[in-house]
Amino acid sequence: MIVCVCNNVSEKKLRHAVASGLNTMADLRTHLEVGTCCGKCAGCARRILRECQTTNQIPHHANAMASVTPIIFQRPPITPAFQDDALAA
Ligand code: FES
Repeated sequence: MIVCVCNNVSEKKLRHAVASGLNTMADLRTHLEVGTCCGKCAGCARRILRECQTTNQIPHHANAMASVTPIIFQRPPITPAFQDDALAA
């Protein structure tokens, strides 16, 4: 849903911005320009901001990334015995 028609800011974009650390209306105005034209979206943007802060909402992809454990592959050390076997083959 588009919240700010003047500046083409969607609800999703607002929620993502709040999850990324923008946590005041001033932040949202500065970075997304929400409410800087006609101002009719300010109430809705404020409601979404409060809702995000109270539910501590994180976007779906951020939740998905939080559960990913990095896998690090390491090459086993080459032992002298292994080198001998490899040369004999
Ligand atoms: S709708 Fe957001 S400034 Fe006009």
